[in-house]
Amino acid sequence: MTTSFSFAARPSLYGASRAACTFKRSLLALGLTAAGVMATCAHAADAPSPAPKSQINAAVGTGAKFTPPSESAIPDDEFGKMIKLGRDIMLDTPKYAKAYVGNTLSCVNCHTDAGRMAGSAPLWAAYVSYPAYRAKNKKVNTFEERLQGCFMYSQNGKAPPLGSETLVALQSYSYWMAKGLPLDEKTAGRGYPNLPEPAQAPDYVRGQKVYEAKCIVCHAANGEGQYVNGETVFPPLWGAKSFNWGAGMGSYKNAAKFIYANMPYGMSYSLTPQEAWDVAYFMDAQERPQDPRWKGSVAATRAKFHDSKFSLYGAKVNGKVLGDIGPPKAR
Ligand code: HEC
Ligand code: HEC
Repeated sequence: MTTSFSFAARPSLYGASRAACTFKRSLLALGLTAAGVMATCAHAADAPSPAPKSQINAAVGTGAKFTPPSESAIPDDEFGKMIKLGRDIMLDTPKYAKAYVGNTLSCVNCHTDAGRMAGSAPLWAAYVSYPAYRAKNKKVNTFEERLQGCFMYSQNGKAPPLGSETLVALQSYSYWMAKGLPLDEKTAGRGYPNLPEPAQAPDYVRGQKVYEAKCIVCHAANGEGQYVNGETVFPPLWGAKSFNWGAGMGSYKNAAKFIYANMPYGMSYSLTPQEAWDVAYFMDAQERPQDPRWKGSVAATRAKFHDSKFSLYGAKVNGKVLGDIGPPKAR
């Protein structure tokens, strides 16, 4: 079976974002009902944003002015080859960085448009923000060390060694995209746009309803995404193939911000902030691979690494303690 939607061959979304309805063909290829797709498409019409519908993407909520150079400007030389490898790793991480990946996600699934999209933690804004102190590992991290973090947790894999081709390629790609940008950790478009705390405390049951209405069509009832010929078409949100308990997306505050600005795909800012918080809470209340910093018990791991109201690790949900799945699998 073929699909019109392939991660490797996707058009650039930056400045020319397409509507969710682009998914119609690929969804149909996956055998999903037209009714479900049309419901998704119809909702786009309700999105409360002054920008023309074709241009509503995560960047709209950030005030970012910077546009990274277009891919056609990648130089045709040795450095250009390294930049292209970095871009390829972003787009298909399990293929191009196989040794360091333990799930079916690619960087682009969370850093959209190959890491170019403002409001989707773009790599150009990250590049000009390091070295920086991170409370997560209580030390000043270089950009390379920050890249290692997403391999260990978001990719549920292991850190490529400092100086390895994988990190050199990603660093070259990020540097190249950031050209002309001043060093400034407050660069507009960095991370995700801020999302105020919700009026009502985030709620599992309300979140489940949002999930069923607005996410399930792509990410599937079991949250494990959808695959065609072994390739990820819609990435897994939880379960064995998704990010692990140590990942940034496992904080439902981060997830709410990402979801509000980026999801449903092609329909940025169409959820209410409350819906984004509720569905993020629901997503982060599901089981996923163990935190690789495991301290021998859920309680000890929670005390050391998850002492935050935005982490549900160690919380009891539907009668089960989240994270109570034993030590991390060897990889
Ligand atoms: C499951 C989602 C996910 C995946 C997959 C993922 N990341 Fe991330 N990444 C995040 C989140 C969440 C953050 C934190 C964003 C924030 O704090 O604003 C982040 C942050 C980063 C940052 C720092 C951004 C900044 O502005 O400080 C870099 C660099 C980065 N990721 C690179 C990568 C690379 C390279 C890959 C692939 C090898 C990758 N990420 C895969 C979710 C992901
Ligand atoms: C039209 C299909 C579609 C719908 C509907 C949709 N998503 Fe996504 N989602 C995607 C795609 C495609 C990506 C990967 C983006 C990329 O690679 O550019 C993604 C990525 C994600 C990610 C980051 C990657 C991961 O697997 O963790 C999260 C979290 C997410 N979606 C949550 C949601 C939530 C919550 C909803 C409902 C509010 C939703 N999505 C609705 C298609 C969809």
